[in-house]
Amino acid sequence: MHSPTELQKIIEEAILKLAHPTKPADLYEPIKYIMSLGGKRIRPVIVLMATELFTDELLKAIDVALAIETFHNFTLVHDDIMDNAPLRRGKQTVHEKWGVNNAILSGDVMMVESNKHLSKVDITVLKPVLDTFNQTAQGVCEGQQLDMEFETRDNVSIAEYLEMIRLKTAVLLGGAMKLGAIVGGADEQNANLLYQFGENLGVAFQLQDDILDVYGDPEKFGKQVGGDIISNKKTFLHLTAKAMVKHEELAVLLGNHQDTETKVKAVTQLYNHYQVKELANLEMEKYLAQAYQALEEIAVPDDRKIYFRHLVKQIMEREN
Ligand code: IPE
Ligand code: IPE
Ligand code: MG
Ligand code: MG
Ligand code: MG
Repeated sequence: MHSPTELQKIIEEAILKLAHPTKPADLYEPIKYIMSLGGKRIRPVIVLMATELFTDELLKAIDVALAIETFHNFTLVHDDIMDNAPLRRGKQTVHEKWGVNNAILSGDVMMVESNKHLSKVDITVLKPVLDTFNQTAQGVCEGQQLDMEFETRDNVSIAEYLEMIRLKTAVLLGGAMKLGAIVGGADEQNANLLYQFGENLGVAFQLQDDILDVYGDPEKFGKQVGGDIISNKKTFLHLTAKAMVKHEELAVLLGNHQDTETKVKAVTQLYNHYQVKELANLEMEKYLAQAYQALEEIAVPDDRKIYFRHLVKQIMEREN
């Protein structure tokens, strides 16, 4: 069995070996750029780890792992356009470097590349793999649509927010778990439990991402701190603060009439005052507990699950 760090290394090496055409350069260079900027490789690690719960032949799942990481990176390239983000993994975003049109098209090719990786999977599991992948990918798009719609709405409920992050983020962690399980030969019940594990972990993961967006260390975070506040994202922090603030503070939270730096500062002060970070942490704990519950129920010997616990810990202690 392999630790998260060992699996990360396997994935890093497989990504390095990926060959892309060289022309047109402005189509393929952004793909190499974003894929080689690092990132935590959580989703492909999950794929391999889920496979390894059921078989020692984890490399059966390497193409699925590459498909998932390529798909994830594609969503980041397009997400950064939608979120008007200048920084990703500590470097210029693809659309800042190559322009929006190139970022759209390189992203499109990445989606095709994901499919090419997927089609290499053993024919006996190809259908469930494709079905699971497609369902996951569509869910992510639905979530991203809701995320954007919420920017201009000021009556978003916490339940709507949780459903939105379930779709934009958690279904991909769930999907990665389930795909790994399918390739590893898991039965349906175990595969579904892994999905539940991943989905609950994914909700906790996005809550943490929203916290880091405000409280991350700019040196380590790799993205623009305060980006969600600038874009009026309806995060758990925002919605929780909104339910508590005094009438005159509401304008600070919803307002666009100040420069971005002032706005980020003012909103962060409100978050601090109403201790919304602590409340977000409590919410995260609830989803983590549900994730662990599903992990418990997976019918494999407990010692095979040990690295999943390490991975969860790593994810929740991350700084980027
Ligand atoms: C960023 O995902 C997108 C979210 C769902 C929050 P990660 O935080 O896993 O990004 P990388 O791949 O490690 O850069
Ligand atoms: C990203 O949510 C979800 C997807 C990319 C599908 P965010 O917009 O919060 O992700 P970051 O913070 O830019 O990585
Ligand atoms: Mg976004
Ligand atoms: Mg974003
Ligand atoms: Mg974010």
